[in-house]
Amino acid sequence: MPAKRKTFLVMHGPNLNLLGEREPEIYGSMTLTELNAAIRKHAAGIGVRVIFFQSNHEGSLIDCLHRNRKRIQGLIINAGALTHYSFALRDAIASTGIPAVEVHLSDIHKREEFRKTSVIREVCLDQICGLGMTGYFNGINLLARNPPKKRP
Ligand code: DQA
Repeated sequence: MPAKRKTFLVMHGPNLNLLGEREPEIYGSMTLTELNAAIRKHAAGIGVRVIFFQSNHEGSLIDCLHRNRKRIQGLIINAGALTHYSFALRDAIASTGIPAVEVHLSDIHKREEFRKTSVIREVCLDQICGLGMTGYFNGINLLARNPPKKRP
């Protein structure tokens, strides 16, 4: 029997709806719609189904994760600024136990001090940053591996 197709949730946090117009010198000129289309195409190429969710609200992101926890096998999350302080989001990832990869378009380690801390890092298999949309592709590749391996 062929293996069942995996479904991953790609979650975008606050302000990522403004991609394309938001600080393009940092985040590039691609809109969120274009980014999602590129992710979908990449995922389809390796036989993975993706669903997308963006919200500017911490609770909505958590609710979405809870709602989908039984139907997804992986989470790609760019939590935006929530990355740096949302213990509630961290607990939500830990509570669901879904294998997750943290992605950032920019290199958070080469920017302001406050961006260097990620409170979700420990509950994710890996953190990928500074690679633009390629970071999402790499995250999907990592989760698609069976079982996904933690970075050594
Ligand atoms: C970001 C980096 C965060 O520090 C910032 O708050 C964002 C975007 C990134 O993709 O580089 O909103 O997650």
